[in-house]
Amino acid sequence: MQAVIQIKDLNKQFGGIVVADQIGLEVHAGEILGLIGPNGAGKTSLFNLISGLYAIDSGSIFLNGKPLAGMSTVQRARQGIARTWQHMRLFPSMSVLENLCVATRHFGAENILNLIVRPLSLKQAQASTEQKAMHTLERMQLHGLAHSSIGDLTFGQQKLVGLARALMNDGNCLLLDEPMAGVEGAAYETIKDIVREEALSGRAICVVEHNISFVKDLCSTAIFMANGKILERGTVDDLLASKTLETLYFGGAAA
Ligand SMILES: Nc1ncnc2c1ncn2[C@@H]1O[C@H](COP(=O)(O)OP(=O)(O)O)[C@@H](O)[C@H]1O
Ligand SMILES: [Mg+2]
Repeated sequence: MQAVIQIKDLNKQFGGIVVADQIGLEVHAGEILGLIGPNGAGKTSLFNLISGLYAIDSGSIFLNGKPLAGMSTVQRARQGIARTWQHMRLFPSMSVLENLCVATRHFGAENILNLIVRPLSLKQAQASTEQKAMHTLERMQLHGLAHSSIGDLTFGQQKLVGLARALMNDGNCLLLDEPMAGVEGAAYETIKDIVREEALSGRAICVVEHNISFVKDLCSTAIFMANGKILERGTVDDLLASKTLETLYFGGAAA
């Protein structure tokens, strides 16, 4: 089976800081790959390289077998790369619903030409985007807050909105950057359920997370990174038994 995300010999440095050192990995449809490692390991940078925010130094990244080289972040999103952000990046003055609908502006019929020649089809596209957004919010039990502004939501609810916004992209690659950081209670369980459902529906998911029990519950395989390098890969239990992890991660030497 062809991998959804395939990365080969990926390298990236900022000055003397190596954020990706010969990274190679594959994530298949239905798989949830866990990515763990101390702060500064290069986890977020890897997402930035996949989504096109950072240019690679060398190596290659494929999405569903297609090379991503030369594509902008918008083009990659259109190809099906959806992501959440470690530091949410929601629009605080906009409503929850608007935050979701704005995410799809680059995908649909919304351009100047359509605005002039096909105002009706644009209206229909907007209506179906709103319908989809409401459905996504319902899945997260947030539909009652659709017209609230982001600032009125709890931190956990804002994290859910970030996830909902990523899910507005129907593509089959989902990158989640610390979805559980600072989340507890009901939102925690909801995020876990949604991530599991999205994998079952065929997305390939890569999740950066420090919450090991979350990674253990959801991920069949995981990768341990430090200094831009993949040092271990295997089941979460394999990683937990690793001396490298104990020293570099749990020992607190680099975290
Ligand atoms: N745009 C950038 N310019 C310079 N250094 C960067 C940039 N992005 C990340 N880094 C550095 O790369 C290292 C890895 O960062 P990051 O990928 O955010 O780590 P993680 O997500 O694993 O905590 C850090 O030392 C960070 O300061
Ligand atoms: Mg990070």
